[in-house]
Amino acid sequence: MSSTHHRLAIYPGSFDPVTNGHLDVIERASHLFDEVVIGVAHNDTKHGTFGIEERVRLIGEALPDVLANVSVVSFQGLLVEYAKKRKAVAVIRGLRAISDFEFEFQMALMNRKLEPTIETMFLMPKEEYTYISSRIVKEIARLGGSVSAFVPVCVEEALKKIFHDPAK
Ligand code: PNS
Repeated sequence: MSSTHHRLAIYPGSFDPVTNGHLDVIERASHLFDEVVIGVAHNDTKHGTFGIEERVRLIGEALPDVLANVSVVSFQGLLVEYAKKRKAVAVIRGLRAISDFEFEFQMALMNRKLEPTIETMFLMPKEEYTYISSRIVKEIARLGGSVSAFVPVCVEEALKKIFHDPAK
């Protein structure tokens, strides 16, 4: 189907792990596009806390069934190349605060330079999610704090396993 009829957006990220803030952005994007593909990026230089397949699995498990037009994949290489391959019309990014802006601005303009046909679109999660980040959630979980308000249940359990399961 041509992209003028079927509008697909890619929501890329590390998702290490997915948070309620990400899920809020996913839901907003799913209302705006015919199809949303969540793309978990392989990063050769940064070894994550969770493996790529585990991050994909956790997103899949956390996705509400009502979001029938959302799928999750992992991708390698340049985001714009993957977006072109999928015939995406847009890249979605969540924007929480001014502190996100500089990096996001740089990435959006670089991606536009590399591939002018793909638009980056910023969506703001609910204000109650503004202070959530995967990094801070991991730190709280590692130090034994409760993260149940910030991440889906499957992620809470996965974090407990990683940080507090003596078998691991
Ligand atoms: O969740 P993050 O870590 O902020 O996401 C960053 C991500 C994965 C979107 C970015 O690193 C990316 O697009 N990686 C794929 C490789 C690429 O295209 N790099 C050039 C970006 S200008």
